[in-house]
Amino acid sequence: MLTQEQNDALTQIGPGTPMGGVLRNYWYPVAFTRELDEFPVKATRLLGENFAVFKTREGGYGIVAEKCPHRGASLVYGIVEDDGLRCGYHGWKFGTGGDCLEILAEPDSSEKFRADCSVRAGEAQELGGLIWAYVGEGTSPELPRYEAYTMHGHRDMGHAIIPCNWLQIMENAVDPYHVEALHGNYFEFIAEQTGMEMPGSFGGNKHEKVAFDDFEHGIIKRRLLVGQDEESDDWKIGHPLVFPYKMWVGGNGVYQMQIRVPIDDTHTNVIFYTVHAPDGIELPDDVHTVDYPIEWMNEDGTYIVDYIEGQDIMAWVSQGEIADRVNEKITKSDVGVVACRRMFRKAIEDVAEGKDPLAVVREPHDVIKLPLERSKFGRGAEFASDWIDNGSMKFSPIAQEMKQLHIDAAKAREAMDNA
Ligand code: FES
Ligand SMILES: [Fe+2]
Repeated sequence: MLTQEQNDALTQIGPGTPMGGVLRNYWYPVAFTRELDEFPVKATRLLGENFAVFKTREGGYGIVAEKCPHRGASLVYGIVEDDGLRCGYHGWKFGTGGDCLEILAEPDSSEKFRADCSVRAGEAQELGGLIWAYVGEGTSPELPRYEAYTMHGHRDMGHAIIPCNWLQIMENAVDPYHVEALHGNYFEFIAEQTGMEMPGSFGGNKHEKVAFDDFEHGIIKRRLLVGQDEESDDWKIGHPLVFPYKMWVGGNGVYQMQIRVPIDDTHTNVIFYTVHAPDGIELPDDVHTVDYPIEWMNEDGTYIVDYIEGQDIMAWVSQGEIADRVNEKITKSDVGVVACRRMFRKAIEDVAEGKDPLAVVREPHDVIKLPLERSKFGRGAEFASDWIDNGSMKFSPIAQEMKQLHIDAAKAREAMDNA
């Protein structure tokens, strides 16, 4: 339970707010690489501010505040040139660093005058099928090359704009008991009521205990299910909340970074960034990269709750645009949620003291590997197949192909074991 002031401090993310100051230390995906290949400039909203993200004809990426410094027209309707973006209204041209390079109607404008005409710019770069942006002050940190974005596999990106604050989605990442209740008991109830088959991997996962460990990229969440021993991956390894806006989850050849980009106080861009790379089978060089919207609301405004992430979205959105943490009843089993809030509060303090908050990466690197169970819920290949059929991946244009890939890989592994 928090006071209203504490809840505001944790959830308001616009310019000038304490949490906004924390979140402006990180890189965020703002477009799919595909989008800027198809049309080289796009609107994007991040941390309560509007931007134009673009790809120059020379192949560089840039992100600038949407409003042109001349008289405020939208740079989303600009012309992309070799080395920058030219406002569509009167043709002022800006480089990827935001400098005003040229004023169309005043070719002999002085450099001194133009120096005063630059547009606020961030930095943008490509990684793993996504365009990433940094819009904070000061020297940008490294874009963390988490394994999801660098590993070889089929990339499957389902996405949706969710009308709620990003923090309640992050709290869900350290809330293991919801898996037993929401994706277990509630799913069983829906299956019973609608006559669908309950997916085996999600039923009957009763928790014996849970644990949370802080580490340099966030919080590792571990669980022991009834019937598992302490050598199980779920207990020994677990998987992390990746500070401040992701969760890394999966196992059995399906790897997923759940990305929750804070658009503003009451909207979050959720991307289920999945890589299919099962052992036992050789993947082609030209792997798939697909992105697609996921459905979460019926035409009558009720939630779609017959799949895993749909159930999560119901819980996130029905808590309200910004969850009411003043009138909640926090209890022992919410220990992960409490740890999460503590971590965010610590980040606010660190930034106030001029320090980098957690998981800001300054060292150049090839790849960052995060802990992850190999065998999820102690289940084998069945888990991959159940997840594709009963998760947001069911909306993917390559769902059936990926399911077959995991079935073939499981057969190949079995043949190898028997050889
Ligand atoms: S408003 Fe952009 S050049 Fe005039
Ligand atoms: Fe969930």
